[in-house]
Amino acid sequence: MNETLQLLNKRRSVRAFSDKPIESDHLALLKEATLRAPTAGNMALYSIIEVKDQQKKHQLSILCDNQPMIEKAPLVWVFLADMQKWINYFTEGGSVQKGEQEHLASYRAPGLGDLHLCLQDAIIAAQNAVVAAQSLGMGSCYIGDVIEHFEETRDLLKLSHYTVPACMLIFGYPKSEKEGKLTPRCPQDAIFMEDYYHEPHLEQLNSAFSEHEEQRKQTRTLPFGNTGSLADYYYFRKHTSSFMEEMNRSTKVMFDHWCNH
Ligand SMILES: Cc1cc2nc3c(=O)[nH]c(=O)nc-3n(C[C@H](O)[C@H](O)[C@H](O)COP(=O)(O)O)c2cc1C
Repeated sequence: MNETLQLLNKRRSVRAFSDKPIESDHLALLKEATLRAPTAGNMALYSIIEVKDQQKKHQLSILCDNQPMIEKAPLVWVFLADMQKWINYFTEGGSVQKGEQEHLASYRAPGLGDLHLCLQDAIIAAQNAVVAAQSLGMGSCYIGDVIEHFEETRDLLKLSHYTVPACMLIFGYPKSEKEGKLTPRCPQDAIFMEDYYHEPHLEQLNSAFSEHEEQRKQTRTLPFGNTGSLADYYYFRKHTSSFMEEMNRSTKVMFDHWCNH
C-alpha cells in the first residue's frame, strides 16, 4: 500500500491535544494544501476563520454543544460557505450595473443552489486540511455542532449575509503518542451501489452495522442495560436528541436568512 493510502486508512479523529502550539511552517503548509482543494469553477466559494481569541474559542465551545476540547485546541478553523465575496465583486466591480445597462442580465440574488455549491467547496477544503494535518503529525476533529445556534455564531464571528458556517475543524499535535484504535466502518457493499439506489432494509442494515453494534456491546454503551440495538442507540442518543433539534432549527434559520434577500 502506498504512503497516501496508508495515511488515509489510519486516520482517526483526535480530540486530546498537547499544549504545543502549531509550528509556523506546519501552519503554512496546512494552509497551502487546504487551498489546493478542488473548488467549483475555481471560485473559492468559501472562507476560513482561524479563531485565535480565547474568549471566542470559549464561546464556541459552549455554542457547539459544550465541547471543552474546542477551547483547548491550539488551532480552530471555522469553514464558511461564502458567496458574499462574489456578490461584492459583482456589485462593487460594476458587473451588475453593466448587465442591466446592456440588457445582458439583471441582478440575481444567491439561491439554495449557490449555497449548496459554497457548502461543497468549504467541506472539500476542510477534508484536504484533515489529510494534510495528519501528514504533518497533527490530529484533527470535525465539530458538526457549529451549525447550531446560528444567530449567536453569526454575531460572534461577525458574519455577512451570504456567509454561513459549513463545518469546523480543531487541530493540534496529539496528546498521546499511542495510535488509537480505529472506529469500525460498514463493509464496501453496504455503501457502494450499482446503477441505482438500492434501498437497504433491516436485514442488510443489521449486517452493515454489525461491527459497530458489537463494539458498543463490548463497551457496554448500548441502551436498555446493553440489551438494545445499535439503531436504539442512535435513535435515542442522536436522532431524537435536543442537539439535533437545535441543529435543525438553526439550519432552517440559516437557510431562510440566506434566501431572504
Ligand atoms: C460532519 C461531522 C461532524 C462531527 N462532529 C463532531 C463533534 O461535534 N464532536 C466530536 O467529538 N466529533 C465529531 N465528529 C467526529 C466523528 O465523531 C468521527 O469522525 C466518527 O466517530 C468516526 O471516528 P473517526 O473519525 O475516528 O474514524 C464529526 C465528524 C463529522 C464528519
